[in-house]
Amino acid sequence: MPTSRGALPHHLLPLTASTDAAGRLAIGGVDLCELAAEQGTPLFVYDELHLRERCREAVAAFGEGASYASKAFLCKAMAALVAEEGMGIDVATGGELHVALAGGTDPARIVLHGNNKSTAELAAALDAGVGRIVVDSHDELDRLEALVAGGARVPHVLLRVTPGVEAHTHVYVQTGQDDSKFGFTLSTGAAAAAVARAQASPAVEVVGVHVHIGSNVFALSSFALAVDALAGFVRPLGLPELSLGGGLGVAYVEGEETPSITEWAGVLHRACAAAGITSRIAVEPGRSIVAGAAVTLYTVGTVKVVDGVRTFLAVDGGMSDNPRPVLYGSGYETFLPRAADALRPFVANVVGKHCESGDLIVRDASLPADVSIGDVLATPVTGAYGHSMASNYNKVPRPAVVFVAGGEARLVVRREALDDLLRLDL
Ligand code: LLP
Repeated sequence: MPTSRGALPHHLLPLTASTDAAGRLAIGGVDLCELAAEQGTPLFVYDELHLRERCREAVAAFGEGASYASKAFLCKAMAALVAEEGMGIDVATGGELHVALAGGTDPARIVLHGNNKSTAELAAALDAGVGRIVVDSHDELDRLEALVAGGARVPHVLLRVTPGVEAHTHVYVQTGQDDSKFGFTLSTGAAAAAVARAQASPAVEVVGVHVHIGSNVFALSSFALAVDALAGFVRPLGLPELSLGGGLGVAYVEGEETPSITEWAGVLHRACAAAGITSRIAVEPGRSIVAGAAVTLYTVGTVKVVDGVRTFLAVDGGMSDNPRPVLYGSGYETFLPRAADALRPFVANVVGKHCESGDLIVRDASLPADVSIGDVLATPVTGAYGHSMASNYNKVPRPAVVFVAGGEARLVVRREALDDLLRLDL
């Protein structure tokens, strides 16, 4: 939650954000108020240079071992950008696989995840020639064995292990603890049994172990703990790869500090070296690549003042384009792109247009005192798990996505039209 009513801290804005003498904000050299007028709102605006810089940072730190977790944000243009920057891509479903391939991703750079991959998803992945499959269960091994017996090629696999580590993050996005639906449990011996089975199976070639402890993790010590917990298991296997998943947190609101990808890499590499792990380290960052690259633009439509209680400022989006506040109680900052350096003494709940009270974008948001109907209002750090978790609740069409760079705006996902809401009806 915002603690200060001062101006928006600019480190929460994308890399190329700049204000002119009048305080109007541009990203990638594109004026956000003009962009909103051209494209309409709500609108996701991604700073292309910011995306590229984060990919480059990951590739510099992890080389070929760096894959982008596409669940955070995926469209064809994003898949293409990731490939141009030399990153692999992590897909968690057949749907993400389909979009990554449509975006031109080299199948050899695709890592397939999922705790309940269907036979059809596995068959599609084998057919496409994905580089790695992260096996999550014995049932999945059964399915792979049947597919390979039927003539499919033998995949390179990692086995996902739950190391019994509770990452410091929201309980909904913790994945390393024993009480988890993901992977093979280390403490019960299930992980060792799974590796033994897979190594004996003619249907898979085991190249490594995978662990992912959770998402939006700020404490780098949680990652080091996972490495320590795994070391005794991983070392004797002598496998060429160890994937440590994703999960690096990002700062959403004033006062939050987060380590960089480079710092994260340093901790992971040092922890592995100290534990005597010589496998190549792979990672799958999602949020830390895309979250800070985007802002969402809305238009203020209705103001309700409840005397002595609070003010509600309703915008033209809501839980359908950003369900994170209602799902996880996540906080965001707010600002007006026409006055990005202005002080924000006015406090209101920024709410959406959906028909439920939980439809909150920012509780106790800080805004300039002159905010009024028709203003473009922005929330920064919305590049991860916003568009990718968007829905059509209340039959609200999903927003468009624009990449901005060098003074140009490139529409990469068009806004849904009302007829898109009918395209599946028979
Ligand atoms: N690898 C695996 C196996 C994962 O399950 C995830 C995220 C990642 C990598 C990428 O994690 P990241 O670097 O983005 O933290 N919807 C939630 C986040 C769910 C994360 C699910 N798995 C949110 O909005 O906070």
